Formats: sequence, structure tokens, C-alpha cells
Amino acid sequence: MIRQLLAFSLTAPFLCNAAVSDLSALLKEISAEIFPDLEALSRDVYNHPEISTEEFRTHDVVVDFFATTHPGLFKVTPHAFGQPTAWRLDFENRPSGFEGDLLQFGYMAEYDALIGEGHACGHNHILLNGLASASMVRQAIVDLDLPVHLVVQGTPDEENTAGKNRLQEAGAFDGVDVWFAAHPAPFNSVQPMQARINGRIRLNGATHSEAVYKAYQELLIIIDLGTAGLPGTQSTDNPVEDVGLFSENIVQTEIDLGMTNVSLATVQQTVASIKAADAGYSAVNYTVRTVPGGVAVNYTGPGGHASESTKGPLTLSIETFRSLTALSNDIAFFLPGNNTDTELDITVSCRTRYTLDISTVQNFVASAVQELATSITWDLAYPALEVTPYIPDLFINLMATPDFNETWGLSTIAPAASDASFVQIPVLDSESRDLISTSKVVFFPNFNICAPDAAECPFPHEPAFRTAAGMDYAYSQTEKVARALAYIAVELLTDPDMMAQATAIIQ
Ligand SMILES: *[C@@H]1O[C@H](CO)[C@@H](O)[C@H](O)[C@H]1NC(C)=O
Ligand SMILES: *[C@@H]1O[C@H](CO)[C@@H](O)[C@H](O)[C@H]1NC(C)=O
Ligand SMILES: *[C@@H]1O[C@H](CO)[C@@H](O)[C@H](O)[C@H]1NC(C)=O
Ligand SMILES: *[C@@H]1O[C@H](CO)[C@@H](O)[C@H](O)[C@H]1NC(C)=O
Ligand SMILES: *[C@@H]1O[C@H](CO)[C@@H](O)[C@H](O)[C@H]1NC(C)=O
Repeated sequence: MIRQLLAFSLTAPFLCNAAVSDLSALLKEISAEIFPDLEALSRDVYNHPEISTEEFRTHDVVVDFFATTHPGLFKVTPHAFGQPTAWRLDFENRPSGFEGDLLQFGYMAEYDALIGEGHACGHNHILLNGLASASMVRQAIVDLDLPVHLVVQGTPDEENTAGKNRLQEAGAFDGVDVWFAAHPAPFNSVQPMQARINGRIRLNGATHSEAVYKAYQELLIIIDLGTAGLPGTQSTDNPVEDVGLFSENIVQTEIDLGMTNVSLATVQQTVASIKAADAGYSAVNYTVRTVPGGVAVNYTGPGGHASESTKGPLTLSIETFRSLTALSNDIAFFLPGNNTDTELDITVSCRTRYTLDISTVQNFVASAVQELATSITWDLAYPALEVTPYIPDLFINLMATPDFNETWGLSTIAPAASDASFVQIPVLDSESRDLISTSKVVFFPNFNICAPDAAECPFPHEPAFRTAAGMDYAYSQTEKVARALAYIAVELLTDPDMMAQATAIIQ
């Protein structure tokens, strides 16, 4: 990279300082022109949520926008890198007489929704941020005649099976050292992300009721696991965070559990007293009804992120199982939706702050659950995403200026996991956990989309976050962040020394 920059400075006319000092005004002007159409695109995506690997409509909306409605801005590649719902936008500007290698710069854009929850993770804003910020940079490259190859990589399937890992293996991030994206959140923060691995536990019974009994015994083991003995690298570590029947990365919004040999009144009373004893259940509702073969409880309530500790319907159903089995050995359980199934699956989401520790968490969970399990299969381990130096400070200082007027901070708390870590590939010192190097610079700040007067500011994956992600305020925050990222991108692309500092971590 440094060699390229020297080549650039020797063969290209250097951008004069006057042009850079007008950058803020220039980007405001460009944004006013391009943002409204892209915001409409993002709202359309929000209104038509598609889950991981099924983002076909969203793919087509983006491809049509740049290939048909606004042709000529970027070279458009649909179905990029063999991924049916990935796309790629490329733009190259070669100033006349410039013979060196073009500088490379990239944006990542996510756009998948959650199973049953729509855009409750706000990825329509990650899409908007990537498209808008890159479009601003593209125009600035033209206006300032910079020698740059600019990329926007559409990155499907963030939530479930690490789409960025497949794109990385297919070479989508090769040759570009710096990648920007931004995630909507209930706070402004530049922070790391956890390492994660999901285990799918299969449980079999000779009968349906034995399978359900085993599944709930296993769920009890998991919620009682705790974290003692796990790598306590941070007080926020919460490695065994939640479990779900059937859906990856989602805490269920509805659980239906049947029971025999117990009266409706006893069940009613049991569930009521569990719920009343713990305010964590305040958002969970339930109804008890008579069904063929017994009584059933239908629990409904907030789904949410697998990393959140708020109690949902699944937890209340597990505690019901705990209480009823303590009450009587005669009570049997069934799933009213399918009371013949003798094979059930549970997902356990294991997380920890550092990649180095994820196998310890995995082994801890595996040894606790293996006795009841027929089999356990593990998905791909997500590495942790680390905060690289230099760019965060540029960003935080920029956001504090009157143009943006936003307070930002650096946080060491890792609030969730992200497949952007497959692009960054961080290398840590095994003793100190200090970041030694990365393969790419990935800058992925979280930005607050909750209006100052909002009654509540939910966490991504909670149903209320979907509401927040659809508000005008969220779109105006995305515009600000897209413009700030564009500002920093143009600074890096015009100042070889800044680019060298930003990429010094790369080995
Ligand atoms: C459970 O309750 C929800 C909310 O009232 C309802 O939509 C759903 O149909 C119920 N499910 C069953 C199986 O009764
Ligand atoms: C629970 O029921 C109350 C009253 O019927 C309702 O206002 C609330 O929205 C319900 N909550 C959920 C999570 O369904
Ligand atoms: C539950 O009740 C059924 C009759 O409804 C009976 O056949 C069965 O043995 C009982 N189960 C247990 C575990 O006592
Ligand atoms: C019930 O479960 C069995 C076994 O998994 C499956 O073959 C069957 O299709 C399910 N039936 C319904 C109605 O879901
Ligand atoms: C910056 O934001 C604060 C509230 O966060 C507000 O009080 C202040 O007036 C704003 N300043 C400018 C220059 O917009």
C-alpha cells in the first residue's frame, strides 16, 4: 500500500488544501442530491424484509437502481461471487496522465432481515449507509479527479450462516485494504464484537412425550449453566446466552407447550406465580387452554437477540417445566402442534469476547449437554471483530464537530457478533489479548437511531427496534453517518500519510 501511495504522489497532481477544506460543504451538496432516492430504496427494503440467503427481491431492487434507474454510476455485477443474492458495484476513476495503481476503497452493505421479525436488526440502514456513503465518495472522486477504484460489496446473509465468510473465500475482499460499514444501534459507539458459535442439539425419544421431556430437561441444563469456569475476560461476558427451538439467532416470540395429568387450574396458577415473581417476564403473555390429551400453554412475547438477557416466552416455558416436574412425576409434556414428533432440535448460542476463548466455551457447553443429546453439530465459529486504531479517532473527532454534533465513544464492550470479522481476520497476542495485526481494516461503528425523545431505546433484534428502524429519525442519522464516513474516506484517499497510518495494522 505504501508503495502505491508513493507512486500516486509522484505521478498525480496533488489535491490542494483548499479543495479539502471545502469537503464538508461538497459532501452536503452531494448528499442532498443523492440521499432521497437511496432512502426510498431503503424504506422499500424495510417494507419487504427477506431473511438470510433469500434476499432475492432486495438484490433485484439494488441491481435495478444502479443498472436501470441510475445507470452509468457504477459497474453493476448481479449474483456476485457465486452468491445468488450478493451484488457488487465498482467505479474507477483514472485521471488523465495518471499511470500508477489506483487506490482501492470498499464499502460493505448488509440487507438481510430476521426470521419472523422483519428488519428488527435495521440492516436496511446498513444497506443505505453503504450505498449513500459510497455514492458520495464516488461523486467526490469525480469532482476532485482522484485516482481510485471504489467498491460496494453487497453482503447477504449476515444473521445466520456468515455470508461474508463465503464472499471472503470467493475473493470478494481481495485487493481492497479498507472497508467501511455502519450499524444502527441504541447508542453511538465504536466497539468490538464477540466471537460466537451455535450448537444444534438433537434429542430423540422412544415416544413423542419422551422427546419433549428430554428437550426441556436439556433446556433447563442450559439455562442453569451459568458462566462459572468460563474465560472471564470481561465482566460483560455472557457466553451461554440464550437458546431457541428451531430458529437460529432469534429468541422465539411464541412457544406452545402441552401437558397431561395436570388440571388447567394448577397450570394457570403455576405459570402465574412464576411470572409474578420476576419482573423480567413483564412483556410475556400466556393463555392456558384445554386441548386433546391435556392442557396447553401458549406463551407469547418479545423475541430478540440471542445475546439479550430479557426473559422471553421460551424461558417462561422452561420454568413452567421446572415447576410442574417438581410438583409431580406423573405430568407428561407434548407439543400441541405436532404430537407425533420423536426427534427435536435445540439451538444453543455460545459467545465470548475473544476468538481465542470460543473453543473453551464450546467445550464447556458440549460437556454439559452431551449426556441427553443424540448428537450436537456446531456451525462455523465467528471470530471476534476488533477495533483497529487510527480511523476511530478520526471519526469520533469528526462527529464532535458542529456539522455532525454527535457524541461518540470508544467502548471495549462487545455487544454482539458480526460476520465482518471474517473480512478483518484479527490476530491477537495469546497472553495479553492485544491486537497484533489484521488482514484488512474494517471500520464498523454503531450509531444511535433512537430519537432523543423516544420512550424506549430497544436493542437490535427486539421487536421495538424494528419500529425504531422505520422512523424518519433513523434515516436522518444514517445520512449523517454516511456523510461522515464519506468525509473520512475522501481524506484517506487524498492524504497518503493518513492512509498509511490507517493501514499500518495490516500484515
Ligand atoms: C398463541 O397466541 C397468539 C397471540 O394471541 C396467537 O396469535 C396464536 O395463534 C396462538 N397460538 C396457538 C397455537 O394457540
Ligand atoms: C400482552 O397483553 C397485553 C394486554 O392484552 C397487550 O397489551 C400486550 O401487547 C401483550 N404483549 C405481547 C408481547 O403480546
Ligand atoms: C397420564 O395420564 C394418562 C391418561 O390420560 C395415563 O395413561 C398416563 O399413564 C399418565 N402418565 C403418567 C406419567 O402418569
Ligand atoms: C410432525 O413431525 C414429524 C416428524 O418430524 C414430521 O414428519 C411431520 O411432518 C410433522 N407433522 C406436522 C403436522 O408438522
Ligand atoms: C448539538 O446538540 C445538542 C444536543 O445534543 C444541542 O443542544 C445543540 O444545540 C447542538 N448544537 C448545534 C450547533 O447544533
